[in-house]
Amino acid sequence: MINATLGNPADAALLSSPLSRGPGAPPRQRQLIQRLKQAILAGQLPAGGKLPSSRTLSEELDISRNTVLIAYEQLTAEGYVIADRQGTRVAPLSATASSAAKQAAAPPAAESFVTAKRLTRIVSTRYAHDGSVPMTPGTPALTQFPINAWRRAQDRALQAAPAATLGYGHPVGEPALREAIAQYLRVSRGVRCDASRIVITEGAQGALALCVQLLTNPGDTAWLEDPGYRGAKAAFHAGDLDVVAMRVDADGIVIPEHAWATQPPRLIQTTPTHQYPTGAVLSLTRRLDLLERARRAGAWIIEDDYDSEFRHQGEPIAAMQGLLPDAPVLYVGTFSKTMFPALRLGFLVLPEAIAAQAMPSITEMLRGGHRLEQLTMAAFIENGQFSRHLGRMRRLYRERQSALRDALAAHLGIEHEVLGGHSGLHLTVRLPAAYSDVAIVERARKMGMNPSALSSFAITPLAEDNGLVIGYGNTGAERFPALVRRIREVAVEVAS
Ligand SMILES: Cc1ncc(COP(=O)(O)O)c(C=O)c1O
Repeated sequence: MINATLGNPADAALLSSPLSRGPGAPPRQRQLIQRLKQAILAGQLPAGGKLPSSRTLSEELDISRNTVLIAYEQLTAEGYVIADRQGTRVAPLSATASSAAKQAAAPPAAESFVTAKRLTRIVSTRYAHDGSVPMTPGTPALTQFPINAWRRAQDRALQAAPAATLGYGHPVGEPALREAIAQYLRVSRGVRCDASRIVITEGAQGALALCVQLLTNPGDTAWLEDPGYRGAKAAFHAGDLDVVAMRVDADGIVIPEHAWATQPPRLIQTTPTHQYPTGAVLSLTRRLDLLERARRAGAWIIEDDYDSEFRHQGEPIAAMQGLLPDAPVLYVGTFSKTMFPALRLGFLVLPEAIAAQAMPSITEMLRGGHRLEQLTMAAFIENGQFSRHLGRMRRLYRERQSALRDALAAHLGIEHEVLGGHSGLHLTVRLPAAYSDVAIVERARKMGMNPSALSSFAITPLAEDNGLVIGYGNTGAERFPALVRRIREVAVEVAS
């Protein structure tokens, strides 16, 4: 029996009760370490108390002496015990450390943490799914993505630079991709830029967060389209900004004259080419007015150009950023719609003035990475695969949108107004107030459909914000008649 300098019989039992053996039991050395740690943290083995010699303990527990020696060594290394010529003793702890140790050994209690106040303003609206649920807004046709071509391009990128691809890479993104994006944006979107002003980000969301970090201090005012993109709202709240809602009409964001004086903004969020979610195009007069007023007010416009590649009617609408030289615009783009969301590649084009000042800090703030994806994306753009893919998807989405429109006209059977649709991957359908959009969406999800509630994008929902945002990107044209009939059933149920 152990001669316990350690005191009472419980301590003796602690050190003499056998360790688990047999199949499935953890290694004895690990069991012993764990047992001693817990006893020390709980105060069962008090500070200064001497542990039995390795020989005694090995006999007591019927394990090899070496196992005990290794366990003691580990506990010494982690600071639980101190070994000297007199033997191994439990390490002394300060009063604060002992109280922390008791907590560590106690069964976990339900703790109430105080998180940053700003988190209370960021409410989750996410509905987890794999992108295959029909009618999901903003999800491209994942089953139509040329995955084999992508895999081959990725292999080629890896073969071309096997070891280099494994390092961090340039903090603001692969030069080849930044060059390819600059060229693409100049030609296809009328953006004034060169590669030196482009930062590759973790999707558009990363770009929005970076805008907040670069240009605002907590408490600054940010204007947000209402209804508007929830990702931008979350990024603004995460930066502790004072978010001011600006209503949207058929010509895009509406700025009341007094707002420039009463709530002067630091940032203004816009989706001018395809307002999310109403689909409005910001008129030229409003674009020019906004640019001029923002310049005078020292504000910066964030132009989120998330899905303008899929223009279905008329000529492409050029980006607002390119309207004026030195426009006070941070241009945000993403490959989430044109390629696939899991790629998580987006980009930010900084105005020249900001780029010159902020690039040194940005290169310290970011770490690069995702090099293989970036190099593959660059090659995809350069060798024409990207524009061929866009062409194919544009035709597909046009057909899907037209099928959705036809199905709504033929099968919804409820008074409604279809908004937008000149580009992108979704249509917005306004409904009378009796058909609560939130209730419809809740039931629709249970039936395997995933439209969004229009009101969930509004900061202060008005009656006109009741409706459904219906994605057609990920839904085959042939499915819409049946899906819309099901939406009708759900809506009628909700209203009755
Ligand atoms: C307005 C808007 N901006 C940006 C994005 C894309 O964000 P990300 O590139 O982070 O996937 C979306 C996607 O739904 C969007 O609706």
